[in-house]
Amino acid sequence: MIVTVTLNAALDRTLTVPNFQAGFRHRTSESLALPGGKGVNIARALKTLGQPVIATGLAGGKTGLRIVEDLTAEGILNDFVRIRGESRTSTAIIDPTSNTQTEVNEYGPAVTSRELHAFMEKFAYIAKGADVVILAGSLPRKVKDGLYKEIVGSLNSTDALTVLDTAGDPLRMAIKAGPGIVSPNVFEAEALIGHEFADDEDFFQAARQLGKMGAKSGIITSPSGCYAFIPDSDGKSKVYKVQIPPLEPISTVGSGDAFLAGYVSARLSGKPSPDCLRHAVACGAANTQKYGAGVFDPHDVKRLYSKTKIEIREI
Ligand SMILES: Nc1ncnc2c1ncn2[C@@H]1O[C@H](COP(=O)(O)OP(=O)(O)OP(=O)(O)O)[C@@H](O)[C@H]1O
Ligand SMILES: [Mg+2]
Repeated sequence: MIVTVTLNAALDRTLTVPNFQAGFRHRTSESLALPGGKGVNIARALKTLGQPVIATGLAGGKTGLRIVEDLTAEGILNDFVRIRGESRTSTAIIDPTSNTQTEVNEYGPAVTSRELHAFMEKFAYIAKGADVVILAGSLPRKVKDGLYKEIVGSLNSTDALTVLDTAGDPLRMAIKAGPGIVSPNVFEAEALIGHEFADDEDFFQAARQLGKMGAKSGIITSPSGCYAFIPDSDGKSKVYKVQIPPLEPISTVGSGDAFLAGYVSARLSGKPSPDCLRHAVACGAANTQKYGAGVFDPHDVKRLYSKTKIEIREI
């Protein structure tokens, strides 16, 4: 069983607004509302890939109730701790005319120490049955930056593979606890490592650096694919570069989440690292062809997989 943790769950609204311009009144031509937050999106993508998954985390107020109800309606197993503060609504405005995407994300509720304690108890129970634990997204307000570090540390004594997709100080702290996989995007990785990446060499070095910082595997995603540092079963490590020709996106929101679901799913099926990475990139790319984060058509994944190119370097 895979467990995804979403401490800052959201209701994700996608509004399609042709000719969107700041400062004007508009009407939407289409709109979609789905439960979201990175862990929830990853759970949705894993379900599509046929993997057993349960989504947990914190959900609050009327929005939280809707998140839980809509997840259940989607057939995604979930067990969230209900909190008093209102879960956030995130809005993405897609303009098909100019092909732009504008995102406005609320901060989310503050969480009390009692609520967090209730979550930690529930999580300790659910995690007992987990082969993989995925910690994804930002932390809610009033939660200490070291929480992911604490959770990763507590899972080190178990057999569960820990996967961490977050940014900023929570990532900086938790990577030291030795998570199984971290998967920042380019901006998140540049902020973590402390400089911009200009060429291939920089990216390969940066992927290795994630390993030196503490992660067992490090993957840096970008719209053109990914760079990864992954240890082999024989103890040697390799770095990989996977590329896919850029697609005209419908919506890129959640591509990183679909990517991670694709990677974890292939890895659980025992596929070798190059296949896992190519499958991940194909899932990320397929996500850009649909509205909704973590939503994609498995047929697109199959088709796009064959368009991926991989370069492998021994180190
Ligand atoms: N325009 C595109 N064409 C093809 N593939 C894309 C495109 N944009 C993203 N992808 C795929 O999605 C994956 C993740 O992309 P990216 O690094 O932009 O994610 P992200 O910033 O973490 O996204 P999010 O946080 O919204 O989930 C990439 O590895 C790539 O495979
Ligand atoms: Mg991401």
